[in-house]
Amino acid sequence: MKRIAILTAGGDTPALNAAIHGAVVRANQLRVEIYGLIKGFNCLFNPRVPHVHLNPLFQAIPELDPTKGGTLIGSSRDFIDPEKKSELDLITARLAKLGIEGLIAIGGDGTLNGLQPLAERLPTVLAPKTIDNDLGLNHPSEPDEWVRVKDPNSKYGYSYSRTPSSAVFDLNQIVNYATPGYATAVLVTAQGVERLRTTAESHRRIAIIEVMGRHSGYIALGTAYGQPDIILIPEQPIDMQLLIERVKHLYDLQKNVVIVCGEGIVDEQGIELGAESTSTDPAGNIALSGAAEALRTKMIKLLGDKYFQLYRRGNSAREAIFTRKVGHTQRGGRPILFDRFYAAMLGSKAVDLLVEGRNNAVSVLQYHAQKGFHVEGYEGNRFRDRWGLIHARQMHLALYDPVLMKPSRTGIDYLLPIFTDAIGSDDAEHMRQTLFDPGNLVQPYHSVNTDVHKRIRYLPTESRDPND
Ligand code: F6P
Repeated sequence: MKRIAILTAGGDTPALNAAIHGAVVRANQLRVEIYGLIKGFNCLFNPRVPHVHLNPLFQAIPELDPTKGGTLIGSSRDFIDPEKKSELDLITARLAKLGIEGLIAIGGDGTLNGLQPLAERLPTVLAPKTIDNDLGLNHPSEPDEWVRVKDPNSKYGYSYSRTPSSAVFDLNQIVNYATPGYATAVLVTAQGVERLRTTAESHRRIAIIEVMGRHSGYIALGTAYGQPDIILIPEQPIDMQLLIERVKHLYDLQKNVVIVCGEGIVDEQGIELGAESTSTDPAGNIALSGAAEALRTKMIKLLGDKYFQLYRRGNSAREAIFTRKVGHTQRGGRPILFDRFYAAMLGSKAVDLLVEGRNNAVSVLQYHAQKGFHVEGYEGNRFRDRWGLIHARQMHLALYDPVLMKPSRTGIDYLLPIFTDAIGSDDAEHMRQTLFDPGNLVQPYHSVNTDVHKRIRYLPTESRDPND
């Protein structure tokens, strides 16, 4: 291969630039040109295909900084519709005109779903990223466990459900143990818990902290490093009675409680506590919000004002129980060492897979207790169920203790290899040197977009959109 393209799709994640950097370094070694496509799949709908040559003379452009969060080539949640054959033909022709012989997409489960129709037209490889840590499999045969069940409320008349697994859960068998972005997101949420704890402690309050992750509880689980008292995950329906008992026990003892909840937590009936709205991402994922607020409302009702008045710790439950969402700070900023290092390896592996002639493949991060972490190539199809759909990985319940509402022993064993050395000494030093740099007070922010814009090139077309 002489020239390949790379794009970043879906929500931004701290290690995107690191993954692009890893791909570019490998492409330089192999003497392959690499073009960055601007704004994810959106670029392919534009007849002028805005792009940046990331390695002129086989050297990475200086704007590509693997320690910077976000993505210098931009991202979007645009979707390639497999039914729109003429659109696919146009996209294929545009890429051919640009001399692109293979495509790397850096993304999550939605991106892998979106890549499927393209894989039938040119070689494609996915390099995973997502703070949700939900691109992967608890064990290799997990996709076979999905079945379709009748669902009159769904527009297709069916929805997907999981049958009980016949595989023994084993950490060494996980496919794609952790995704770049996850560790940095957990750093932010664990720090958030530490900071909110002091307010809860000082003011005798109960804090409910909502973290991201959609329907997967990995971020909530990892937040255990911040030592919250209770962790609620989407995979385990909430037992309100048990929760209230535990809250009372803790509040009685220590006069404050810190609860972490994943944004996708569900009640005893399996109904999400957070409100949903339709989002536009490739997997048709729904945006979840309001789980912590909904939980607070339930707790206010069940604990009641009297409970707090008797303890003389406030006039009302409403006053004592507060919520905070960690929000998009989980997705932003400088990636920590674990994310940077493995994102780069996965990006580099994606180039190798393309050059080796693989198609519809995924570079994955594998872990083995004796051998540690290593990257491998995996067939994209092995992530798909029998109808071709990729489902976001949910956290295996073996990782969670539903009584203590914390990571189980296996959950702790899962977290240790990722987080024990996840922070590099340069990560701490970077903060020390840059955050209170006096220059920050006098200089405006300089966005990478300003510099990259100067490098954007287009495919020549007859008519030009004046907005480009
Ligand atoms: O998939 C990553 C993620 O950050 C989820 O954890 C979250 O639910 C969603 O994206 C938020 O999406 P948006 O940026 O569109 O609000």
